[in-house]
Amino acid sequence: METLRVKVWRGTERGALQSFAVPRQASQTVLDVITYIQRHLDATLAYRFSCRVGMCGSCAMTVNGVARWTCRTHVDAIAEDGAFEVAPLAHLPVIRDLVTDMAPFFDKWARARGQFQGAKSRHDDFARIAPDNPVRRQADAGIECIGCGVCYASCDLVAWNPDYLGPAALNRAWTLASDARDVAQRERLRAVGSDAGCHACHTQMSCTERCPKKLSPTAGIAGLKRALARAVLQGEL
Ligand code: SF4
Ligand code: SF4
Ligand code: FES
Repeated sequence: METLRVKVWRGTERGALQSFAVPRQASQTVLDVITYIQRHLDATLAYRFSCRVGMCGSCAMTVNGVARWTCRTHVDAIAEDGAFEVAPLAHLPVIRDLVTDMAPFFDKWARARGQFQGAKSRHDDFARIAPDNPVRRQADAGIECIGCGVCYASCDLVAWNPDYLGPAALNRAWTLASDARDVAQRERLRAVGSDAGCHACHTQMSCTERCPKKLSPTAGIAGLKRALARAVLQGEL
């Protein structure tokens, strides 16, 4: 049987790569390999996953230097001469081995006012938004984000400016800026208009190239820039 040579990050930020030999199998994913190591070679290996089918985003790691969902990454697609490397997601604190602390990532969603704020109570009628409304379509284009952090780990700006809100939080802010029911629009635009907000984006597109959901945070960030300019010109900010 063919054997894979796999290097896996161990420890915290000051850790090192450790080598393992894993039997190669047909249709094997990177997550299958990590699971094999944890179950058969070293039970102390820490990693995170849940759904195994590309629904939850919790299995995101760095594979051969690229952020990916490991459950949807086939070994055949990334192994070079039967070898590859797996490390934790970049730009986030490492708790241990392949597990990162996602708190700074989600704190930025809160800073970007990434929570819906409505004005109606349960006694009011439902808001009626036509599905083909162009503004609603803007929201729909970014709404399927599952918060995996792949775009965040792929964005160089986050590395250069740790305060930068990053593509996922800004994409979330854009979906809410395009939601006619939300009543915190001015506050949200102020939150994303700071030096660490949408104007810090250099439009390098790595987030959009890497998002496994095929979303375009770059387009959302451009939309926020337009909305901010409009609000300033109209004297609203
Ligand atoms: S387009 Fe902006 S948010 Fe996306 S990776 Fe580039 S700098 Fe980061
Ligand atoms: S925008 Fe895409 S890559 Fe970024 S967190 Fe959402 S699903 Fe993941
Ligand atoms: S384990 Fe849920 S997306 Fe990979």
